[in-house]
This record gives sequence, structure tokens and C-alpha cells, in this order.
Amino acid sequence: MMHSEFIPKYLPKTVNSGSVVCQAPSNIALVKYWGKYGEQLPQNASVSFTLSECRTETTLYFEKTTEDSTFNFEVYLDGKRETGFEPKIRKFFERIYSYVPFLKMYQFKIETKNTFPHSSGIASSASGMGALSMCLVAIENKLGANYDTHFSNKKASFLARLGSGSAARSIEGPLVVWGEHPQLEGSSNLFGMKYPYTVHENFKDYQDSILLVDKGEKQVSSTVGHDLMNGNPYAEARFKTANGNLEKLISVFESGDISAFINIVESEALQLHGMMMASEPYFILMKPNTLEIINRIWQLRNDTGSKVCFTLDAGANVHVLYPISEKEVVQQFIETQLSPFCKNGEYIHDGCGLGATIVNS
Ligand code: DP6
Repeated sequence: MMHSEFIPKYLPKTVNSGSVVCQAPSNIALVKYWGKYGEQLPQNASVSFTLSECRTETTLYFEKTTEDSTFNFEVYLDGKRETGFEPKIRKFFERIYSYVPFLKMYQFKIETKNTFPHSSGIASSASGMGALSMCLVAIENKLGANYDTHFSNKKASFLARLGSGSAARSIEGPLVVWGEHPQLEGSSNLFGMKYPYTVHENFKDYQDSILLVDKGEKQVSSTVGHDLMNGNPYAEARFKTANGNLEKLISVFESGDISAFINIVESEALQLHGMMMASEPYFILMKPNTLEIINRIWQLRNDTGSKVCFTLDAGANVHVLYPISEKEVVQQFIETQLSPFCKNGEYIHDGCGLGATIVNS
């Protein structure tokens, strides 16, 4: 199915060569996307905090080519040619070609760097696809598309989704929803949008410290994991629960009830991993230290009444979430109590951010 809104009608300007630089952040889902259908469409709606420090910066160089029947590009990570990324980008270009018809008219050099270590296990696909999509829309504007900021973001999110589902949520911030939901006006399976309703002060500048428990390649990729939801006997219940949790979060965001927030967010994280354990073949991405950290977070909550909580993505790392009012106490706790369970004691302090930016166009 084609989505005509995203097909440029006419690009009046001729530009022979140039470059654009864009940045996009990573994001952490509170209600998880796990299971998809069709062309990168989510089985349930999800919501995430956009991060601030964990970002990808991409420079996209383009130059007119006479050979216009194939995609012509090279990828560089931290200045070094990275052929390993090229099949994924080729697939991305194939998927988005009808929406970005100039892709075959230019040859591209994609130069990319992350503010976080590539091997950290932090999803670089969301920030990477987000930054690349922002660059493509910026070029389209240079060619005369003349989109306003709202539509530019919408199209960047639409394209990013086709590269990696969660990337749809890396364009705006600090709270983004992706996926059609009856209680969220304007929500769509095709792109992410800024959370449209009231958010209580308690959730402003929410903090996320990422504890790097296991930095290796994941044994099971997200794409394979999503696929295993087909045939998972609990899948339908999971999709329904996720949409229900998102509905509950609407009133939680409004009231500022952090205890209710914690309940939903931690349950979402454990359900995600529960789905992995219930897949066929089954798999476990948590490590013993993941559980050790979770237990210590629960212990701190019990002992002190702190509002610290955790979430997980598709890996062993733990995202420690806490209100900014507890920044000092929780960061001290991480340093003394949790860092011994991280690989080489490493963690990254991050917090909510505003989304992707054009650095230079
Ligand atoms: C567990 O977006 O990485 O982080 O669409 O196949 O690229 P693809 O998957 P991806 O899946 C992310 C799954 C998750 C939950 C989430 O971010 O919502």
C-alpha cells in the first residue's frame, strides 16, 4: 500500500552536489513495541521518552550521478568505511524509494558517528535511522519541497519507521507515541508524533541512566524477536495489554502519579522479556546482573520510598528511570550499589530530550 501524502509531487530545484548534517537521539519505550505486520507496522501502540545525550550525528554528502538505475552509496562510521552496515541501508533505500525518488539520482556518502560506544548495546538503529531520515528530508527541502517543520518531522518519522520501527519515535520529544490508538487523537501506525495531552511537572526532565550490563552483539536481533510474536500463544493478549497500558498512562501523565507510572513501566519491561521466553524458539536476553540490578532497585524503593524504577529494551542493559528531584540520590546509588554489576563498571547518565535536529543544511 502506498501512502501518497509522503510521495513528493514535484521537486523544482536542481542541485548538483552538497551535504547536510543531522542529529537524532535514541529513545526508551515505556510501553513497548514488540510484534509487527505488513511493512513495519506495529501490532500495538507504544510510547517513549526521547533521550538527550545518546545521539547519532550523520553527514550525508550527495552528488549527481548519470547512472540512475541503482542505489549508489558508501557508509563510514567514525571515519572508517563500514561495509557491514550497507545491506541494512540498501534495504532501507529499497523500502523508501517511492517516497524519496531522488535516491537513485545521486551518489551518497553517509558519514555517521554516535555519542555512545557502538558496542554498548544501546540501540543505534533508532538514532541512526532517525538521523539519516532527517538528512533525506533536509535534502528534499533543498530540492524545493518546501515542507514546514511539522510535515518535515512527520515525513522523517515515516521514513525512519521503514528503517527501524522504534526510530519513528526518535524525531520529536520528550514524549512520543507511535501506533494507532483510539484514545490518542491523530495517532498513526505510519509515523510517531509528540504526545498530545497534558504531562504533569513530575515527568518533566525525567532521568534515564543506562547501565551497560552486556555490551556484546545480541544473540537474537529485534527483527527476529518481532517475527517470533507470530505464533506466540500470548501475542493477542500482549497487544491488548500494551494498548491498555498506554490508555492508563494518559491519566497517569496528567495526574503525576509516579507510583502508578512505575507499575506500568516495570510491568511492560518484564512482559517484553516474558514474550521472549514464551516464543518458539524461546530465548532470554537478560543476564544474572540484570536481575541483580532489578532487585537492588526494588530494595531501594522498599527501604527509602524512592521513586526510582527500571525498564529494559531488547537486551541485558537496564534503564534506570527517576524524577529529576532524585537525581543526586539515585546517581550516588548507581555509583556505589549498581555499577559493580555493569561491564567494566560502565553506565551513561541521560535524560529526556527534544528530538532530532538539523545541524547544517
Ligand atoms: C524492545 O525498532 O529495533 O526496543 O523495527 O525490527 O528495527 P525493528 O525493531 P526495533 O524494535 C525495538 C523493540 C524494543 C521496544 C521499543 O523500542 O518499543
